[in-house]
Amino acid sequence: MSYFDNNIWNRNQYHNIEGKGRSNTAIKSLVIFIITGSIFSLLFMSIIIWQLSHYQSSSKIHTIILNVASPLTHKISKRFLSFGLDSSLLRNMKHFPVRDDRFINLAHHLSPAYVRVGGTSADCLFFNRTLPIIFEKFINPIDDGDISNFTLSTDDYLAVYEFTNKAGIRMMFDLNVLIRGSDGKWDDTNAKEIINFSKGRDMIVDWQMGNEPNSFRHVFNRTVSAKQLADDYNHLRMLLNNMGYMSSILVGPEVNHIGDENRMGELYAIEFLKNDQNSINYVTWHQYYLNGREATTKDFVNPEVFNRLPIQIDRIKNAIEEAGQNITMWMSETSSAYGGGAPELSDKFVAGFLWLDKLGYSASTGVNVVIRQSLFGGYYAMVGPDLNPNPDWWVSVMFKQFVSEKVLQLNNTNKFGTLRLYAHCTAENALINRVPSVTIYGVNIDSKSVRISLRGNYDYKSSKVLLYILTADYLKSREIRLNGDILTLNSDGSLPPFKPIIIDPAYIIILPPFSMAFIILHGANAQACAA
Ligand SMILES: *[C@@H]1O[C@H](CO)[C@@H](O)[C@H](O)[C@H]1NC(C)=O
Ligand SMILES: *[C@@H]1O[C@H](CO)[C@@H](O)[C@H](O)[C@H]1NC(C)=O
Ligand SMILES: *[C@@H]1O[C@H](CO)[C@@H](O)[C@H](O)[C@H]1NC(C)=O
Ligand SMILES: *[C@@H]1O[C@H](CO)[C@@H](O)[C@H](O)[C@H]1NC(C)=O
Ligand SMILES: *[C@@H]1O[C@H](CO)[C@@H](O)[C@H](O)[C@H]1NC(C)=O
Ligand SMILES: *[C@@H]1O[C@H](CO)[C@@H](O)[C@H](O)[C@H]1NC(C)=O
Repeated sequence: MSYFDNNIWNRNQYHNIEGKGRSNTAIKSLVIFIITGSIFSLLFMSIIIWQLSHYQSSSKIHTIILNVASPLTHKISKRFLSFGLDSSLLRNMKHFPVRDDRFINLAHHLSPAYVRVGGTSADCLFFNRTLPIIFEKFINPIDDGDISNFTLSTDDYLAVYEFTNKAGIRMMFDLNVLIRGSDGKWDDTNAKEIINFSKGRDMIVDWQMGNEPNSFRHVFNRTVSAKQLADDYNHLRMLLNNMGYMSSILVGPEVNHIGDENRMGELYAIEFLKNDQNSINYVTWHQYYLNGREATTKDFVNPEVFNRLPIQIDRIKNAIEEAGQNITMWMSETSSAYGGGAPELSDKFVAGFLWLDKLGYSASTGVNVVIRQSLFGGYYAMVGPDLNPNPDWWVSVMFKQFVSEKVLQLNNTNKFGTLRLYAHCTAENALINRVPSVTIYGVNIDSKSVRISLRGNYDYKSSKVLLYILTADYLKSREIRLNGDILTLNSDGSLPPFKPIIIDPAYIIILPPFSMAFIILHGANAQACAA
């Protein structure tokens, strides 16, 4: 296998990089690449009929400028790419594969990460309690989900924790904030039991409380004011400190509806933050672009949909500032479409564009962690019910492989259009013989291929471009191709080698229509990456 295959390369063969026949293979690869690119274009053409008239390889060359002397713009969490498991999964542990080795393995490939066990059902959850038997289910009027109260047994809680432990991911648990006394204050009895139980088992857990409290009226026909929630959070922080979880992270207020005209989510967050007394480590909010019941394929490749995210991030940044706070944010629950995702879209290849662009854009503005809803369950799952990966799982694995927490600036004139690229220092594990490198990644959501010229003040002579291009045969495919080959796990569950196309930096890079790319600029010595 080639020395350049990521995750299997041999560090002792560095001289091979300048080895004979390299440029020959590069040209061959490029030709094959252009041919496959055109084949894919043709396939897409038959699917996207409305775009037929536009189809052609655009002759314009996009120049991307990398300045290796510029400082890092941000340093995000090592667990930046994280994911959620909805609390509703705890209602029926028989269908939650936490004990299945295949599931543990798939989660493990995304480590390090936080796994948020949270959601609407968190506010129906009672730990280790016998609840009165109910004969009629209570239904969430917004998404028809079950909002009856339910019990989480100590064994099931331990099973979920055991799963996160084996997968090397860190559990963030969402506590029930709707258990309240007649005075309206949060009743901490059950929370204390779960916290004490966790401590007794030496469990490492981070915490949060409640889910989308600004929407409680619509979901539960109840209200908890932002001021009251802040008081409850201050109380919870004190509890955690006193019960051995001093160094655990606490995040909140988990608001949604950010960017709505009535500023409902922002106003709630502002009031909460004004009353917060250093209880939270990060400000959390939930982000979706679309309604899962209405979303169409076109929405998933429409730049206007992509451009909703920058507005939402601006809105919450302004809210934090307006509250007089300076706290970094997490997007603690986010996906393409709400209501469980969009059928036949959120779990298909086409969902990768919004996902990869979200990762890139969020990192470029300093969002510390992005928690993907979800790893399992719903149409937006990264792992299907058959415990095989969906395309977004592969996109996430490649992101983990190639992209570090160090964010660089990239000059890209088409930033809010169809070619959306971002730059980070390359992840340390992906460096070849520790040669400094920069990873440029992003999406081309145009129906035409694009041509890119990578300019800047890096050393062209000693650099190589390693291209990892992700495509599919059609937008709603469950399969995803890396440089033309369908990605599948090895039979033992390990990752296949990721084989790049290697070209000279002087070559024009061609991104096929509707493709994602990770472009490693091997040898680009960005000063900020060395630090
Ligand atoms: C609570 O947990 C304890 C210890 O695991 C167990 O003995 C008890 O039966 C549990 N109670 C309920 C109501 O589940
Ligand atoms: C669920 O539990 C909460 C907290 O005890 C209670 O206020 C609420 O009425 C219960 N909901 C249902 C549907 O029983
Ligand atoms: C906390 O847990 C320990 C066992 O780890 C138990 O002995 C103790 O009674 C618990 N305390 C409370 C207040 O639940
Ligand atoms: C909501 O709760 C109020 C009492 O707090 C009750 O009067 C009203 O009927 C409830 N609405 C619904 C739709 O259940
Ligand atoms: C916010 O905090 C960061 C450090 O956490 C600091 O660098 C920055 O200057 C602060 N901004 C304001 C407006 O206080
Ligand atoms: C990159 O963009 C920034 C901000 O738009 C600008 O100040 C800078 O001059 C640009 N750098 C290059 C090399 O074009």
